Amino acid sequence: MTLVVAMFGAYAARRTASVHPLTQVDLQDLDPDPIAALREWLHEAEGAPLSEAMTLATASAAGRPSARVVLLRGLDEGGLFFFTNRTSRKGKELLENPRAALVFHWPELGRQVRVEGHVEEAEPEVSIAYWESRPRGSRIAAWVSPQSELVAGRAELDAHYMETEARFGDGPVPLPEFWGGYRVVPETFEFWSHRENRLHDRIRYLRTAEGWTRDRLAP
Ligand SMILES: Cc1cc2nc3c(=O)[nH]c(=O)nc-3n(C[C@H](O)[C@H](O)[C@H](O)COP(=O)(O)O)c2cc1C
Repeated sequence: MTLVVAMFGAYAARRTASVHPLTQVDLQDLDPDPIAALREWLHEAEGAPLSEAMTLATASAAGRPSARVVLLRGLDEGGLFFFTNRTSRKGKELLENPRAALVFHWPELGRQVRVEGHVEEAEPEVSIAYWESRPRGSRIAAWVSPQSELVAGRAELDAHYMETEARFGDGPVPLPEFWGGYRVVPETFEFWSHRENRLHDRIRYLRTAEGWTRDRLAP
């Protein structure tokens, strides 16, 4: 897995000079492998604020949807990775309904990518590798925050942080069993690019038994 933390190391280096410099998108402009095509667009979005941020939509077993932004932290042939608290609202929804939709939006480039697929827990070694790359304060905060639960007030969180920091002292901050990565295994992608008169380009990929197929959708 290529960790996006590393991919985005040179993040601040480039900033897109003009709005929508790369508009027209035809089938032959995109790699036939959508993971490679996404990697290319992520690369071209480097330098834009939070270019690895993606909206993650999940739904309860009853089909009630919810969405929030998370960071793409890895991308490989197996899928797209993000990390979170497994007891959070999204974690509970993924347990009962392991499917998700993702949306990237890069306004500076006039581009959007949509992804849909099923979701698997990342292997423990993937979660451990990412956990160990996180700053110590973020690791302590993961222990402290019962993500998506009610808290009495900010003071309670801050006090819990101080206690937990003191408890770990100078020792290691281990990966909590309630925290880790998820892999969205893509079944469909859509690459969207802004064009004049709202005649935008939309290229959709579908996974089939023979590999990926591609079509153009009406804007
Ligand atoms: C730019 C941005 C990046 C975020 N990245 C993450 C992330 O990678 N993992 C995470 O658990 N929450 C992340 N969050 C917070 C989530 O949006 C959300 O508040 C949190 O995960 C709880 O969501 P839930 O209650 O639906 O589970 C991020 C928020 C923003 C605005």
